Amino acid sequence: MSLHLWTHCRAATMAPGTGQAYGLVEDAALVVDGETLAWVGLRADVPTDLLARCTVQHDAGDALITPGLIDCHTHLVYGGDRSNEFELRLNGASYEEIARSGGGIASTVQATRAASAQTLQAASSRRLQQLVGEGVTTIEIKSGYGLALEHERKCLQVARALGQTHAVDVRTTFLGAHAVPPEFAGRTDDYVDAVLQMLSILHAEGLVDAVDGFCERIAFSTAQMERVFAAAQALGLPVKLHAEQLSDSGGAQLAARYQALSCDHLEWLSVEGAQAMAAAGSVAVLLPGAFYFLRETKLPPIALLRAHGVPMAISTDSNPGSSPCTSLLLMLNMACTLFRLTPEEALAGVTRHAAAALGLPDRGVLAAGKRADFVLWGVQQPAELAYALGSNPRLQTIFKGHVV
Ligand code: NIG
Ligand code: FE
Repeated sequence: MSLHLWTHCRAATMAPGTGQAYGLVEDAALVVDGETLAWVGLRADVPTDLLARCTVQHDAGDALITPGLIDCHTHLVYGGDRSNEFELRLNGASYEEIARSGGGIASTVQATRAASAQTLQAASSRRLQQLVGEGVTTIEIKSGYGLALEHERKCLQVARALGQTHAVDVRTTFLGAHAVPPEFAGRTDDYVDAVLQMLSILHAEGLVDAVDGFCERIAFSTAQMERVFAAAQALGLPVKLHAEQLSDSGGAQLAARYQALSCDHLEWLSVEGAQAMAAAGSVAVLLPGAFYFLRETKLPPIALLRAHGVPMAISTDSNPGSSPCTSLLLMLNMACTLFRLTPEEALAGVTRHAAAALGLPDRGVLAAGKRADFVLWGVQQPAELAYALGSNPRLQTIFKGHVV
């Protein structure tokens, strides 16, 4: 099989332990074999036997190359929008008050149930197009606005279908434990029974790659989440958790006991929670869009996460209520300005660490054997990706070895 050679570029490989910030390689070359990177390094060092097999040459025009971006936490598939609640909040109501009075997630559930798969597909496709246009090559999409079998199935099927119609790899997460739907009001434990049933059916239908929940005083307790995690574990599915977003409910410790891939949000994470995550190898997924949009004032404990060596990922949390955002590049900037991550930490957060948050060791860095998902950017320095607020310097995306 003929190989493709990419040259005239700098590569921010994001590979750890190279001694270079961003794993940067000046005057780099990438050799692509089908859907896989066969070799990455200095152009002068490409092995001659490989070079001889490179029948297609690409001049990257001095672009900066990074791994394809990974948006590891989204609720991309939903009906309607919540601009009315945005207005209510600007007139004094809080996110929790709106949720408790039947708005919030419940209003999106109503709109999502009412929407056809086709309508959901069209609206989600527009959002996905914006992310893909910024170099996203892998995206996680959660259910959680259907909250009944047929509607959770509809959303997961739409998510899977989006992966067929866009140059992006879609990973689906079942978030049945997102909120208690109105027909189960006051009967949360009965709804958890229903979540377990939905999970086993949707898993059998091949629609579920991971399981998530919302552990919070306005959602599910740790005891209720534990039932969901135990069921996921029995099915061999990895778990993640919306944990300590609005309060410290000990969700991170629970998730760590189930070797969670990630705990997400984490504004109220405790020392014990961070220790448990470090021991379990869980990634901290930070969501600056939700922090910004809800005008939170409690910062996630970045210093604590660093001190315990917990890897930090960054994501859009794209959803209609807390983060109506379709720009992962903007999240890079906000992770730096709001959370004080370095630009290198932020870029690792949408590449290497985002891959870990999805349990995908085959991507997130540019190295031999990894998927050939990468992006050409019209920038000189990697820091420009986080610095240039609201700009999109993407030149080209290569997805599974092919120019998109
Ligand atoms: O990640 N925290 C729970 N879920 C979403 C918000 C959902 C909504 O408000 O519609 C989040 O912030
Ligand atoms: Fe979320």
